[in-house]
Amino acid sequence: MHPSTKKSRYDRIFDQLSGLLKDCPDRVSSMSTIVALLHHKMDYFFWTGFYLLRDGALLAGPYQGPLACIRLKKDTGVCWAGINRKETIIVPDVHQFSGHIACDPRSQSEIVVPLKDDGGTIIGVLDVDSREKNSFDETDREGLERILNLIR
Ligand code: SME
Repeated sequence: MHPSTKKSRYDRIFDQLSGLLKDCPDRVSSMSTIVALLHHKMDYFFWTGFYLLRDGALLAGPYQGPLACIRLKKDTGVCWAGINRKETIIVPDVHQFSGHIACDPRSQSEIVVPLKDDGGTIIGVLDVDSREKNSFDETDREGLERILNLIR
């Protein structure tokens, strides 16, 4: 997708989600709404969803796309790297990322964005996979980080 197209798509999705989530008091409802909209508006999003920290485990939360792993082996793969490094991780080619967990062999590139609670504690990640290499860039990072700030 052309960078300017991508940016304007994120802007429109952000505006729509701002309205939808304005009075949403529940995190799971907010996450489900975000995932549904992103997955259906971004044609390169093959798998779109949250993994949430639960008693030290990272478990599947709201998602859309093919069936995925329910539990991710601790401190392994891209999602755990996002939790441990406390920052967004862009993986241009999943085969080059040591320890990458392949829930679906069709995924080729990936972005993981940490999700924080109001106090700034990381409570999970948003994970998006693409079937093509090099799908995610700074525009995705900015767009997705901005969207996650809508979750209350
Ligand atoms: N690839 C991820 C696992 C989750 S699936 O992509 C949905 C990882 O390495 O953490």
